[in-house]
Amino acid sequence: MMFSRSIVLATLVVGRLCLPLHAQTTLKDAYQGSFRIGAALSQAIYTESDATGAALVKAQFNSITPDNDLKWERIHPTPQGFEFGPADRYVEFGEKNHMFIIGHCLVWHNQTPRWVFEDDKGNPVGREELLRRMHDHIQTVVGRYKGRVNGWDVVNEALNDDGTLRQTAWRKIIGEDYVAKAFEFAHEADPKADLYYNDYSLEDEAKRNAATELIRKLRAEGVPVTGVGLQGHYKIDWPSPDQVDATIGAFAKLGVKVMVTELDVDVLPSAIQYRGADISANVELQPKLNPYTNGLPDSVQQTLAKRYADLFGVFLKHRAALARVTFWGVTDASSWLNNWPVRGRTSYPLLFDRDGRPKLAFDAVIKVARGASAAK
Ligand code: XIL
Repeated sequence: MMFSRSIVLATLVVGRLCLPLHAQTTLKDAYQGSFRIGAALSQAIYTESDATGAALVKAQFNSITPDNDLKWERIHPTPQGFEFGPADRYVEFGEKNHMFIIGHCLVWHNQTPRWVFEDDKGNPVGREELLRRMHDHIQTVVGRYKGRVNGWDVVNEALNDDGTLRQTAWRKIIGEDYVAKAFEFAHEADPKADLYYNDYSLEDEAKRNAATELIRKLRAEGVPVTGVGLQGHYKIDWPSPDQVDATIGAFAKLGVKVMVTELDVDVLPSAIQYRGADISANVELQPKLNPYTNGLPDSVQQTLAKRYADLFGVFLKHRAALARVTFWGVTDASSWLNNWPVRGRTSYPLLFDRDGRPKLAFDAVIKVARGASAAK
């Protein structure tokens, strides 16, 4: 009796701890030959002070993006100086672990210090001066990591949701050609690096059409854009798999690499009507916006798994055009969605839970890859 009970127990332990799906297959292996699987890293991960997170990244992913440390405000906070320490560590982590290393991002209207656009008296600088500053920044940052960072998000979020060009300080001061200039400067600094245009809500038709037109035009003019990043900040019910399908298809037709660069799926109630990923959105915390503080109910866990399976089904269909799928974070604990667009929520958008354990959504994503290789 005792004996058989311990056998049953041992089997359970082996079944639960030693042979779950994730112990056998990793994300990067499951999608080997289809596309790279990436994660956005915080400093705690690439310096390995978060040992669990770092181990997870090494085991599961083969591409990395810095979540904040290469943004202008971090790497070039004052006119006098660059802060390369964190970025250097990030790139070293990537090289040591044989990752495809992304630089994020060079020209954006957010997380860019005001001084960039102003003279000593606080007046706006002119076109030539801003172009000079942009050139200096790109030359210094891209040049420092030449041959080491494999791809750059050169211009981030240049379009409004209706498809018009966003009225940022870059555009106001330099003019519409600031986009082309950024790519030219990046190419000059590292001719071999991939150079991407990156944006959110490209799945919505107006923005998608505008972006395809922008990329088509730039390439026709000889501007060195080599890829497009769909950020992929998705909701449980938006965009539809058909929208994602049509969007990847539309960019693939232009002959550029397509990537999903910041994937997460928000399961929390929407705080605002708006479904884009504008980081300036900010809504006050209310209990009804934060329903799962004690854990995600099974039913929602399953809905999330199904949603991820549907998305990866579409991604796999496009594997010839899709170079990479990068998640914006590693575990739910580190997701930016715990603080955006509402500060202090408990969010569940990724494949690993707060303790770094794979969720049902992880198993679902692995199963999609297995199904595809079985069908080959
Ligand atoms: C986010 C970071 O994850 C946050 O830590 C930061 O406070 C704001 O920016 N689109 C992008 C990313 O291109 O750089 C943003 O990252 C998320 C939206």
